[in-house]
Amino acid sequence: MTTKAAEKAPKKDPWDLPDVSGLVVGVLGGTGDQGRGLAYRLARAGQKVIIGSRAAERAQAAADELGNGVEGADNAECARRSDIVIVAVPWDGHAKTLQGLREELAGKLVIDCVNPLGFDKKGAYALKPEEGSAAEQAAALLPDSRVTAAFHHLSAVLLQNPEVEEIDTDVMVLGESRADTDQVQALAARIPGMRGIYAGRLRNAHQVESLVANLISTNRRYKAHAGLRVTDV
Ligand SMILES: NC(=O)c1ccc[n+]([C@@H]2O[C@H](COP(=O)([O-])OP(=O)(O)OC[C@H]3O[C@@H](n4cnc5c(N)ncnc54)[C@H](OP(=O)(O)O)[C@@H]3O)[C@@H](O)[C@H]2O)c1
Repeated sequence: MTTKAAEKAPKKDPWDLPDVSGLVVGVLGGTGDQGRGLAYRLARAGQKVIIGSRAAERAQAAADELGNGVEGADNAECARRSDIVIVAVPWDGHAKTLQGLREELAGKLVIDCVNPLGFDKKGAYALKPEEGSAAEQAAALLPDSRVTAAFHHLSAVLLQNPEVEEIDTDVMVLGESRADTDQVQALAARIPGMRGIYAGRLRNAHQVESLVANLISTNRRYKAHAGLRVTDV
């Protein structure tokens, strides 16, 4: 006798991720530490990368330094020419940057890695964006894009150090569509040592963004570049 359960298609293996190796990755604010670091790692893994800047010549100069086929462009051209666009600008410039790129980012997979943080004499602390998180602000400003959030907990120092062969960390990936988060997980997995883990919908991005304040405290105490591992998955 066939039961309803037996008729159901087998569940998809969550580690069965798509091939993203042919997609072009753009990095807005790619002249900064985080953007350069991600661009370098992805390009070193064979991904086509374009870094963006408010000034095309700054992007070009940074791209020349990074090598590995990285190209530079202004942020708008970077967004237009890319399939996947990582947002790596400071929280201060986040809303303004995205407001100006709504058309260029329409239909694109956007990965927000922005951590809204404040700093005072006690150290780093999490800010509370009106929309809930930087990622939710991005989703509100980019209704025609597929907004996800990931790459918050990386050390730009390790990413940029060519002597570091593997980036030993998990990347928490958030988003509203499984197809989109699968692509982001697959992109993270292009970098040796890195693993992308699904970590929920964008309404849970605030905790993930805020956790960076804790990691900064850890790094200061232990003079480290702490990453994260999620156990038992
Ligand atoms: N650093 C890390 O270890 C790390 C790790 C994880 C996540 N993040 C997140 O990644 C983002 C970038 O961090 P970062 O350390 O690379 O920052 P950053 O170096 O201060 O800034 C990145 C780039 O953004 C552009 N920029 C600066 N101010 C801007 C503004 N008001 N509007 C638009 N663009 C502006 C600049 O490029 P142009 O002048 O060339 O346009 C700059 O090179 C932050 O939101 C941070 O929370 C950082």
